[in-house]
Amino acid sequence: MKFFVDTAEIDDIKELNALGIVDGVTTNPSLIAKSGRDIIEVTKEICSIVDGPVSAEVVATEADAMIAEGRELAKIADNIAVKVPLTWDGLKACNVLTNEGNMVNVTLCFTANQALLAAKVGATFISPFIGRLDDLNLDGMELIADIRDIYDNYGYETQILAASIRSANHMSDCAKIGADVATAPPGVIKKMADHVLTDKGLEAFLKDAAKANIKIV
Ligand code: G3P
Repeated sequence: MKFFVDTAEIDDIKELNALGIVDGVTTNPSLIAKSGRDIIEVTKEICSIVDGPVSAEVVATEADAMIAEGRELAKIADNIAVKVPLTWDGLKACNVLTNEGNMVNVTLCFTANQALLAAKVGATFISPFIGRLDDLNLDGMELIADIRDIYDNYGYETQILAASIRSANHMSDCAKIGADVATAPPGVIKKMADHVLTDKGLEAFLKDAAKANIKIV
């Protein structure tokens, strides 16, 4: 499973990218606003750090205007994936931008039917939002599994980009189901390394090492 990092914070992207675990970046208007930076400027900087796809989202709601914004965003770098919302106009924009040779990420997906339409119009990525479904006592992970089944039934090449990931368990659950990509905030990716028994075991090893005066360098 590919890891995308869901942030517009440059320091976090640099730290995770240096570890070799960042296959791409996703942003949205809320994350850009949080960074306090100009969308074009910060997106250009992210694209210069990460080789993989960097999603940058349109803010227009009508197809022609989304297409114009998407073309502008695509000029930033070769690795831009234009992000459009899963509305009827967003699907039209996805179709045009895809046919022009751009990567397109269709976001705010909450049903299997929406994902089916995104695949039909040629989306590069579909972004089902797990956490926001869980917030409503629905099952975000079941949606990932349903989309996996549907795409596999017909050989759709649209990649499932699991989004709105809130916990480390979401990451392993997505990997078990076979999501192509999971995008998560830096804190969630770091949490994947944690286990209380790792901490406890290390503490005991270090105590014994000190007692035995073990020195390596
Ligand atoms: O990738 C979409 C993500 O940024 C939304 O996450 O936690 O705001 O639902 P969240």
